[in-house]
Amino acid sequence: MWYNERHMSKNVKLEDIVSLSKRRGFIFPGSDVYGGLSGTWDYGPLGVQLKRNVMQLWWKMFVDERDDMYGVDAAILMNKKVWEASGHVATFTDPLVECSNCHARHRADKLEDANKCPTCGQTGTFGEPRAFNMMFKTNVGPVADENSISYLRPETAQGVFTNYKNVVDTFYPDLPFGIAQQGKGFRNEISPRDFIFRDREFEMMEIEYFVHPDMWQEAFDHWVEQSKKWFEALGLPADMVHELEVPEDDRAHYSKRTIDFEFDFPIGREELMGLAYRTDFDLKNIQDHSGKNMEYQVKGTNDKFIPHVIEPSFGVERALMAVLTAAYTEDEVNGEKRVFLKLPEHLAPVKYSVSPLLKNKPELVEKAREVYAALKKKYGAVMWDDNGNIGKRYRRQDEIGTPHVVVIDFQTLEDGTVTVRDRDTTEQQRVTLEAI
Ligand code: GAP
Repeated sequence: MWYNERHMSKNVKLEDIVSLSKRRGFIFPGSDVYGGLSGTWDYGPLGVQLKRNVMQLWWKMFVDERDDMYGVDAAILMNKKVWEASGHVATFTDPLVECSNCHARHRADKLEDANKCPTCGQTGTFGEPRAFNMMFKTNVGPVADENSISYLRPETAQGVFTNYKNVVDTFYPDLPFGIAQQGKGFRNEISPRDFIFRDREFEMMEIEYFVHPDMWQEAFDHWVEQSKKWFEALGLPADMVHELEVPEDDRAHYSKRTIDFEFDFPIGREELMGLAYRTDFDLKNIQDHSGKNMEYQVKGTNDKFIPHVIEPSFGVERALMAVLTAAYTEDEVNGEKRVFLKLPEHLAPVKYSVSPLLKNKPELVEKAREVYAALKKKYGAVMWDDNGNIGKRYRRQDEIGTPHVVVIDFQTLEDGTVTVRDRDTTEQQRVTLEAI
C-alpha cells in the first residue's frame, strides 16, 4: 500500500476532488434532486467542457493527426446477436454474493473480507458466488418478448467490429489501420463506487487496430508508446502511471495479452485503461455467426486472412479522475491556504476570465465588457467574472483551473494595458491588450 501513503503526501483525498467538483459545477450526482441513482453522474457547465476537451484531444491525437485511422459512431442499441457472438451474453459477468442476514448484494472479488458482509458486519452469511451478467437488458419495440431483447452496449468495441467490413469496402485501407469510436458504455455494476471511477453509465474511447497476424507484437508495442503519449498530454506525471502485465487467468475472454495501465488514484493504484491483443476473436465470431466473410484481401494479391486486432481502450471518467487528481494542488499564498487545479492549458474549461477591478465603476465595466467580447471571439472558453472582490475571483478561478485572469483597471483606460494573473505562480503582469 505504499502508493496510498505516497498519495497522502501529495495530500489529494477523494473527498477534496468530489467536493470541489460539486461546489464549482464540474460533476453532480445523477438524479440528485430525487435522491440520486447509484452509478450515474451529471456533468455541469465546467465538467462537460473538461470532458469534451479530453475527448476532443483524444480524437485529434488518434484520428485527425493519423492517416491510418477511421472514425465511426455506431448505434448504442445493437442486435442481440452481436452480444451472443462476442461472448458477452455468456461471459460478461461478475461474481455476486448475497448476505442471508441483510440481503445486501456484493461483488465477491472486491470484498475486503470474503467472509464478512460490509453492510451488516455479519460473518459467514454469504453462499456460493453466482455469475451476474452486467449488461442492461431492454426490449426494442412494443412487444416485450425473447425476440425483441436488446442490450445497452457494455463496450463501444462491437460497434467498430460490426462496421469493419463497411469501412474496408468503402475506404479500401491498407493494413495496418484502425477504427476509432467514442461514446457511452453501460454496465450494471454490482457495486458502483469511488466517485466517477466505477459507474453504470460511462464514456469510452476505443480503437480497434487491424493488423497482419504476424505484426501483432509490433503494433502492441506501438500502442504502449501511444498510450504513454496520451497520459503525457493529459498532464499525468509519469511516476503515477504503471504498467501491469495481466496474467492469463485475469484476462478478458477475448484477450491473448493485456496490459492495464494503472494510476495512483486517491483510492489507491487502480486501472486507468487497458490495452489488449484481441487476436481474430471478434471478426471470426462475426463471420461464424453472420455467415458474412470477414477476410481481408491484400491489394494486388490473392493473400486473404482475417486480420488480428490490438485494442487500446480508454475510459473517459477514469481519465477525468486522473486529470483532477494530478491537477489538484494546495499551496499557501500570503499565509493563506489556496486550492487550485493545475490543469494543462489545453484541458482547462476556461482559458481566460475577465474582470473589471471594481464593478461599480461603469467606465471600467464598459472597457472590461469590450475586452471580454474580443477574447471570447478569439478563444471561446472565456468567462465574465465580477462576483465578489478581486481576491474571491482569483480564488474561484484558481479552483476551476483558469490559467489566466485578466483585470481591467484605471490604468487600462489611460494606456490600454491590463493585468494578467498567472494561476500557477499568482504573478501579475501588465501587458497590452494586443499581447494577449
Ligand atoms: N473493449 C474493452 C473493454 O471494454 P474494459 O477493461 O472492460 O475493456 C475499458 O474497459 C476501460 O473502460 C477501462 O480501462 C476503464 O477505463 C473504463 N471502464 C470500465 N468499466 C468502467 C466503469 N464501470 N466505470 C467507469 N469506467 C469504466
